[in-house]
Amino acid sequence: MNTSRQNKQDRDSQNSKAPRLVVLISGSGSNLQQFIDQTAAGKLNAEISAVISNRADAYGLQRAEKAGIETVVLDHTRFIDREAFDDSLAQVINSYQPDLIILAGFMRILSEPFVKQFAGKLLNIHPSLLPKYKGLHTHRRALEDGQKQHGASVHFVIPELDAGEVIMQGIVPVKETDTEETLADRVHQIEHIIYPEAVRLVLEGELETLEKPVKVYLQDA
Ligand code: GRF
Repeated sequence: MNTSRQNKQDRDSQNSKAPRLVVLISGSGSNLQQFIDQTAAGKLNAEISAVISNRADAYGLQRAEKAGIETVVLDHTRFIDREAFDDSLAQVINSYQPDLIILAGFMRILSEPFVKQFAGKLLNIHPSLLPKYKGLHTHRRALEDGQKQHGASVHFVIPELDAGEVIMQGIVPVKETDTEETLADRVHQIEHIIYPEAVRLVLEGELETLEKPVKVYLQDA
């Protein structure tokens, strides 16, 4: 057997054993891009089975297509209510049998039955140092309060919004000259570091041994 064919078979068998991720997005998908890059580079031992968006115009869909990853659009406005949307979403997710479901800028509140069905497998990244600033406009609120530090939290999802166990936090300084945009950019930088790393810890079962949340500070900010 020639080497390249052997290599491909090795890769296929490794891939089939790699944990499967389904990533849910609504927008730009810059966090998704980190998962695409790190799984492709072998830095994160996982494969992205599908990217699901509730918006057809989400730029993240183009990122997924470019990487050859299956995409699904489930437009929430076409469903009669939240439960109907969540039922369909759960069916699509289950069809991929993922090990983890990664919410990466997915701008929908998920119903309690949905969240309970995927308990322990559903991760989110929220742009604040939880439990501070749950909900929206986190950067604006941190600036208004004169916070010296801000950041992002990777957490398990539970029915209560932004309230599940925090696995990892990325901490950035707030500068006097910051606007919402400059602060959001800095938080995005640390998100891109902590989200794949937190997923790696969950997949490799390393969480149990660590004091949580694991804290990561942005260098050279
Ligand atoms: C991030 O700021 C994340 O914290 C929040 O949504 C944003 C998604 O950004 N949940 P992107 O689409 O990954 O660029």
